Amino acid sequence: MADRGSFHLGYEIDPKTGKPGADEVVVGSSDLTTHGVVVGMTGSGKTGLAVVLLEEALLSGIPVLVLDPKGDMANLALVFPDLAPESFRPWVSEAEAQAAGVSVDEYAAKQATIWREGLASNGIGPERLQALKDAADVTIYTPGSTAGVPLNVVGSLQAPPLSWDTDAEALRDEMGRHADQLEIVNRCARALSSSLELGEAFHRFVQEVRSALPFDRLALVLADGGRARVIADAGLGEEEPQHSEWMRPVSETVLGELLRDGTTIVNDDMAESPRYPEELEIAGLGLRSRVAAPLSLAGRTLGAISVSRVDPAAFTRDEVHLVTLLGRQVATAIENMRAFEAERAAGEELRRLSALRAASLPDVGSVIAQIEASLVNRGQNR
Ligand SMILES: Nc1ncnc2c1ncn2[C@@H]1O[C@H](COP(=O)(O)OP(=O)(O)OP(=O)(O)O)[C@@H](O)[C@H]1O
Ligand SMILES: [Mg+2]
Repeated sequence: MADRGSFHLGYEIDPKTGKPGADEVVVGSSDLTTHGVVVGMTGSGKTGLAVVLLEEALLSGIPVLVLDPKGDMANLALVFPDLAPESFRPWVSEAEAQAAGVSVDEYAAKQATIWREGLASNGIGPERLQALKDAADVTIYTPGSTAGVPLNVVGSLQAPPLSWDTDAEALRDEMGRHADQLEIVNRCARALSSSLELGEAFHRFVQEVRSALPFDRLALVLADGGRARVIADAGLGEEEPQHSEWMRPVSETVLGELLRDGTTIVNDDMAESPRYPEELEIAGLGLRSRVAAPLSLAGRTLGAISVSRVDPAAFTRDEVHLVTLLGRQVATAIENMRAFEAERAAGEELRRLSALRAASLPDVGSVIAQIEASLVNRGQNR
């Protein structure tokens, strides 16, 4: 067995037999100070090699942080030095036992034997397993879920009660998170400015927002001559024209409150406690929670961005903040689109008017031709 700090990865394959020979493959931990990549086709043993590397690191007293989006590394925590059937019993799959045509107990016993013999043939006995178990306390964090230790990755954007003198690192983290949010908002605003055509720009905007802030319905609402008008929406209700063209007196909608107070409004459950008639209709689409933030430009509120989800109380404080930032950033793009729309409408009106004028003033050539024709006719008839 290799020394502490040397990673024992297995034995070299004898090319003649295709079986492991007697020569150990050992990598010194001092050779693994930067980055490494395990590459191979599927089923070739990448995860197996990574698990061995991590176990060897733990045995060497090196702390290990595993980020595991696929979910097959938590098995690292299953180490049973006794290799007893009853240790395996809670972890074996009932479906696999059934497929093998044996009871779960028998299946667990079989697994214990396979592992005991497999490990022994690699020179690994109970004492090494015990050493691995003793080497580390395992904590499984599950961001966004309470299956393990829950973890709020995004964290809060409230000004932290910390001082640069003692908590510089934490403050830098906080600033990093804030910068990430601004970057997202910037991307979304750029998407909305990418075209002056509302449909096209909104489509790109929705894609950007969705990648950073999952939602079930998103709508942009403008205050238009005392009415709240949905100018674009995506998600639930999008296909139904009555939802896409909601027009209500501003005072009866959340927009009235936004125009008055200018602060973001959250309703954690529109089905339980609807505060406006429109919230009842949105709840009717199966949506429960909503964040509505003002679209504000130079201190003036033009309208609202409204983001809803089917779950009640589904928005974190960070997400509410993100919607608020979006409302501030996208107002300019919307104002530009409105100006373009007004200009285009004015241009069309101008073209229509000149066409009308041309039609009512027949051109001189055809007038002369008509006069000529009538003169000729008269001449002939004479
Ligand atoms: N060195 C090895 N010797 C013998 N069998 C191995 C070895 N490494 C892995 N295996 C076996 O090969 C199978 C696939 O291994 P593994 O899951 O590590 O592959 P992978 O490359 O991670 O696959 P995927 O691309 O699907 O994630 C497993 O049954 C594993 O037990
Ligand atoms: Mg794998």
